[in-house]
Amino acid sequence: KERQKNDRIYYDINRQAGRYFYDNLVQRRNLAQDYLIKRGLTIKAIRSFGLGYALDGWDYLLNHLVKKGYSKEDIEKSGLIVKNKQKDGYYDRFRKRIMFPIFDVRGNVIAFGGRVLDDALPKYLNSPETKHFNKSEVLYGLHIARKNAMNGQGILVEGYMDVIALHQQGFKNAIATLGTSLTQGHALMLKKYFNEIIICFDGDTAGIKATLRSIEILQNVHIDIKVLTLPDNVDPDDFIKKKGKDAFEKKLKGALNFIDYKIYIAQQEYASKSLEDQIKLGKAVANILKQIKSPIEQETYIKNVEEKFGISKDAIIAEMYGRKTSVN
Ligand code: UTP
Ligand code: MN
Ligand code: MN
Ligand code: MN
Ligand code: MN
Repeated sequence: KERQKNDRIYYDINRQAGRYFYDNLVQRRNLAQDYLIKRGLTIKAIRSFGLGYALDGWDYLLNHLVKKGYSKEDIEKSGLIVKNKQKDGYYDRFRKRIMFPIFDVRGNVIAFGGRVLDDALPKYLNSPETKHFNKSEVLYGLHIARKNAMNGQGILVEGYMDVIALHQQGFKNAIATLGTSLTQGHALMLKKYFNEIIICFDGDTAGIKATLRSIEILQNVHIDIKVLTLPDNVDPDDFIKKKGKDAFEKKLKGALNFIDYKIYIAQQEYASKSLEDQIKLGKAVANILKQIKSPIEQETYIKNVEEKFGISKDAIIAEMYGRKTSVN
């Protein structure tokens, strides 16, 4: 009973804070509004994601919530204020930041991400983890995306802004982790709402690494996986803003299945035509093909690789199973 009451207070405080941040953002013109408009967000997107603004001061939210009747202890437990170690006061965790409420699948606000308005660091700050907020069990945008699984597909991106930019352009099946790598828990959640995940991470080294890792994790839950690749140093938000909705739709249609993606990455890694790279590439490809479960699919790929890379079918198969073939 006591626990239920504490749970309710946690959700209430976060919801009230969300409303307060939202009002700060929309009620009068301010830096945060200018920033979001400059980034191309529509009022509709701001509203449906409940974005807000934490003002530039130490206790605006604290005072607001105390006035609403919440105790400082409860507000601290909600993660929104921080205890001052020296004096025994509290101060607002989020100051002068654009606020992104983080929702659970049911649509309760359980935490916030806050972005600076300039190049200050850290760029994003999140609420601390609590028993109600475990980053590895939350996906940003899922409360909306779960009702919009187009053809059973979900688009997995890296950032808050990527999710919002895609939703705003009609791709309401976009979701993101909260800046952490994808976990087994995330994968199970995705499996519950989607048949296929299209990974669409930032076009940089970190994005490629995260893609390869996410493929492994998603494979464990037996969900179909595709990968949409973006140009160097472009993320989905940049892409759709610059190239538009139709260009993104085209990219989606052309997304690679994950085997093709892995081969493509191996080709980039061993791109020189040196004998050494040719051998490494052949071995890497054999290793990738070894992971294909369906014999028919596997054989089709082997034939394909035979043509494309000029490696004989026998050699590929022998390499896959670590056998030696006789030279004939
Ligand atoms: P990115 O650095 O790719 O941010 O981090 P972004 O979404 O493209 O940011 P914009 O476009 O500059 O606003 C992707 C995600 O990683 C988490 C956030 O969830 C962010 O959306 N992140 C990033 C953090 O938690 N802290 C950081 O300091 C940076
Ligand atoms: Mn990134
Ligand atoms: Mn970045
Ligand atoms: Mn990014
Ligand atoms: Mn970005």
